[in-house]
Amino acid sequence: MNKRIEDAFNEQINEELFSSYVYLAMAAHFEGQNLEGFTNWMKLQAQEELAHAMRLFDHVNRRGGRVVLGAIAAPPAEFGTPLEVFEQALAHEEHITGCIHKLYGIAVEEADYPAQIELQWFIDEQVEEEENTGRVVDLLKLAGDNKSTLFMLDRELAQRTPEEDGE
Ligand SMILES: [Fe+2]
Ligand SMILES: [Fe+2]
Repeated sequence: MNKRIEDAFNEQINEELFSSYVYLAMAAHFEGQNLEGFTNWMKLQAQEELAHAMRLFDHVNRRGGRVVLGAIAAPPAEFGTPLEVFEQALAHEEHITGCIHKLYGIAVEEADYPAQIELQWFIDEQVEEEENTGRVVDLLKLAGDNKSTLFMLDRELAQRTPEEDGE
């Protein structure tokens, strides 16, 4: 892989690790409020992001590139209501989708076909990420200030399990 692709992949590894950090911070926020389902959802999300970083890490190594890890920025420490947290999560996923699309554009410009194939998985994954996060945002909007609906939603999110393929 050429240097430009290598640098761009390394940047994306950092974005995915930062994503993991953001979701871990959100998990800590929910855990502090004893919202176990929301905590579970965020912890699994943090694990998924780590798996995304590892997927890119492996791709760089398999292609003879060199992984260079940079500093991971600190995530926010303070969060608002569950709706606000999930709106932030959705905005974050939209940002990541933009990063992946930009990265794919670079792979096209550089005619790096293996990178394009690898990134197609991420393009698809981002559709799923936005769909899943957006669904929780919609449910939280429906719940509004209704505490019992919020409680039921927390119970539902407690059911989320790690994906089979670890993605
Ligand atoms: Fe990701
Ligand atoms: Fe994500």
